[in-house]
Amino acid sequence: MFSFTPLLSLLASSTLLVQGLPMSDHTAPISRRGSETPEVFSRRGSETPEIISRRNSETTEIVSRRNSDIALETRDSCDTADGDPIRGVNIGGWLVVEPWMNWELVEGTNAPDQWTFDQTDGAESKLQSHWASWFNEADMAQIAAWGLNTVRIPIGFWAFNNTGSPYISGADAYLERALGWARKYNIQALICMHGLPGSQNGFDNSGHKGNADWAENQDNLLASTAVLETMAAKYGTSSWSDVVWGLELVNEPIVWDETSARSAQSWAVDTVKAMRTHITNPDLKLVMHDAFMGAKAWVPIAQQYNAVAENFVLDVHLYQNQGGDTSGMTQDQHIATVCNYPSTQFLPDSDQTPVLVGEFSDQTNICVDAAGVVTAGSSCSTDGCQCSAQLDPSQWNSNLVAATRKFMEAQLDVFEEYSTGWFLWSYTGPGAWGLDNLFKAGVVGPDHITQRQYPAQCSSSS
Ligand SMILES: *[C@@H]1O[C@H](CO)[C@@H](O)[C@H](O)[C@H]1NC(C)=O
Repeated sequence: MFSFTPLLSLLASSTLLVQGLPMSDHTAPISRRGSETPEVFSRRGSETPEIISRRNSETTEIVSRRNSDIALETRDSCDTADGDPIRGVNIGGWLVVEPWMNWELVEGTNAPDQWTFDQTDGAESKLQSHWASWFNEADMAQIAAWGLNTVRIPIGFWAFNNTGSPYISGADAYLERALGWARKYNIQALICMHGLPGSQNGFDNSGHKGNADWAENQDNLLASTAVLETMAAKYGTSSWSDVVWGLELVNEPIVWDETSARSAQSWAVDTVKAMRTHITNPDLKLVMHDAFMGAKAWVPIAQQYNAVAENFVLDVHLYQNQGGDTSGMTQDQHIATVCNYPSTQFLPDSDQTPVLVGEFSDQTNICVDAAGVVTAGSSCSTDGCQCSAQLDPSQWNSNLVAATRKFMEAQLDVFEEYSTGWFLWSYTGPGAWGLDNLFKAGVVGPDHITQRQYPAQCSSSS
């Protein structure tokens, strides 16, 4: 859950992530997303300062390859069977534990990640009841009723092969239950490999927080390909072709220089090739996260596949709540950033590289006063002023609902027009992270995800 630009500004300023979402008592978990960052940069202990500076200079270069002069064009031709863009939601915090979302599950264990949690007393039975309750058939029916058409389901390698790791197996059975519900409610699925051996990013969302021992570790890269071949053999068959829209190779791998970037890219090329040998569903998409390099950096690779069959799709994650510049923005500035995505994040059709937004959020760091004026922040004291970081959406007044709704609608409109589609993070989540909360609070809906109150917000800039 991370976007590269704030990552860079973080490194530049050497400050901790300011997610701006401190909440008291039960709402504290909202702020936990940001607190994972520092460890990522101390991933190699004593070498840290050097790595940070290396990354800082070299990643800038990688990022600058992004989107020089991209003409604005309309949606990629890689959308759903009925021609709609993907309107999706992540089933986060389910088959991969993320303590900032799953604070009740990990309570009393101090586990910072699933790797640790799985080794605590009673973990297996707690996990079983979590898997059975966090997401169920009624949720899938609700997703369909709200007009969404796709779910992105994160799962870790250990579901398919936990040999030599402390991870508890069994999540794949729940994945398959969800695929059955998806079939029943006419929802398609993108199965996302969220955790690979070694951890591809050192975030808790990879299963193992701390070191990212992946992009330059050949053993882990080979083991990763093997587990993705297993996944392809299971879910890339024609028996799943009515449900499984795509398989995602890896979520948010971190690269820190040209060498690790090249390594991740050549791994992706090899792994696509290996997966295809097992796949019998000709329409199955293989999805690769852009490794925070920007979609443009993947165009030459994507074109090799998409000149033949349009089935290689890039995933970019577009958060505006991961610190950096975004924590100081008003909602108008957040929306202006969204309106610029067509030129800053997406690609023209001539690049033959469909891009989807595999993760984004409606949570931002804003306060709205009684007159409806929005400022950046997470606390305010004037009468009638509310901050989205401080209050559950069920307590938001109409001003805060309106501001948050404008941002949501701008995102959905731009994603639907200029990309393959979108997946909100996440179905159940704290504050404005949770699709269920957004519907309950009137930030979307009331009945259907396509309903709009603030249409064409980007029309003047696009
Ligand atoms: C499972 O993982 C272990 C450890 O990486 C590996 O030795 C073994 O070959 C894997 N099994 C399969 C079926 O891929």
